Order: sequence, then C-alpha cells, then structure tokens
Amino acid sequence: MNLTDIALSRYSTKAFDPARKISAEQVEQLQSLLRLSPSSVNSQPWHFVIASSEAGKARVAKGTQGFFQFNEAKVLNASHVVVFCAKTEISDEYLQHLLDSEEQAGRFAEPSHKEMVRGARATFVNIHRHDLKDAQHWMEKQVYLNMGTLLLGAAALGIDALPMEGIDMKALDTEFGLREQGFTAIAVVALGYRAEQDFNATLAKARLPAAEIFTQI
Ligand SMILES: Cc1cc2nc3c(=O)[nH]c(=O)nc-3n(C[C@H](O)[C@H](O)[C@H](O)COP(=O)(O)O)c2cc1C
Repeated sequence: MNLTDIALSRYSTKAFDPARKISAEQVEQLQSLLRLSPSSVNSQPWHFVIASSEAGKARVAKGTQGFFQFNEAKVLNASHVVVFCAKTEISDEYLQHLLDSEEQAGRFAEPSHKEMVRGARATFVNIHRHDLKDAQHWMEKQVYLNMGTLLLGAAALGIDALPMEGIDMKALDTEFGLREQGFTAIAVVALGYRAEQDFNATLAKARLPAAEIFTQI
C-alpha cells in the first residue's frame, strides 16, 4: 500500500463494531506512536488516558453528555479510546525533567551539550511564555501533531479511528482529575473497527482541489 492509498482509506468512523477489539500487539504499536511523536524542543507536553475496558470507556463517555451526546456511542463502541491531554503550564522543573530524561537516554556525549540544549530549550520556551504569550496554545499544537501521527498510523495498520473535539473537556478534566495533575483534555480519539452500518464508510472523500491548496515554486 502506498501513502495515498492509506490516506484515502482512512476516514472518520461514525459507528464502531463493539465486538471487534484491537490486538494487544497493535495497541502496543499505537502506544509507541504516541510516545515517539515529535514535538518542538522535544517538549512532549502531553499525557494520554487510554480506555479499553467498558468501565474505562464509560468514564470517557462522561464527556459526551448533553450537547455532546452525538459522540457517545462512538466512545462506548470503540475498542480503545484515547483522551489527549496537554500540559497547562511548562515549568522550570519540567524542563529539568526533560533534560534529565535526555541525558539518561544518552543524548549528551559531553556535559557542554547538555548545557547547550538547556539554553536552547529555555530560549524557545521563553519566547512562548513571554513574547508570544501562547505557551498553552503552543503545547496544544504539539499534542495535535501527535494526534495526526496516531491517525495516519492507525490507518496504516488497518485500524479505524475517529478524532473528536465534540467533547465536554471540562467534564473529562474533572473525571480524571487532570487539572490537579497539570493537564487538560483537548481531544479524544476512538479506535477500533467500523460497524457494517456506518454510513460514513462509503461516502466519497471530499477535499479541496490540489490546484487550490498547493503553490509549487
Ligand atoms: C480535530 C478533529 C475533531 C473532530 N471532531 C469530530 C467530532 O467530534 N465528531 C465527529 O463525528 N467527527 C469529528 N471529526 C471528523 C471530521 O469531521 C472529519 O475528519 C472531516 O470531515 C474529514 O473527513 P474524513 O476524516 O472522513 O476524511 C473531527 C476531526 C478532527 C480532525
């Protein structure tokens, strides 16, 4: 399969088959994608709540009540549901934690390399903290990039998925105590296999024409 085929085959699954589950081996691969996704200055400003049990999915479904009810069955019938959470603050302690983890991974051949990375990362982080004043938004962008990685990866594995912003994020923050832990829910991805009756599976892919979106120079 080439990349175009994969991009064409993936679609937003609106009805999942509750009887079909993703294999443990493939769940492991999906978790690798979440963990290995790139982020600006390797900031990794994320956390993932992964629900696969009925009880776990019922907890995520607390974010699909009231106005957000249209997404409830998708959460309950999927095999796995991932709550994407972004950090709410990027502290100096966290920057030290990142540096220590990079050192442990063997990134720094010499102590001066570690100091270089410390300085470079602080420069970028401070631009977002103080000049652009968009640190939270910047971190959320990193989490969205991760979500894109997961969506393409799932499609490559033949796993159906649905990204959802139609979620009561405040309800999920409360349910999982996220804010107390320095995180906030920003999106949910349901993963599994389409139900036979999913109307969206056979609809044509609709995108703006290539001539409109590309400038070739
Ligand atoms: C960030 C994001 C949030 C979305 N939120 C929802 C949602 O809450 N519920 C839903 O049914 N579809 C949701 N969608 C699906 C989009 O409507 C869909 O991706 C788009 O129409 C393109 O169709 P395709 O994914 O089938 O190619 C979301 C998609 C993205 C990327």
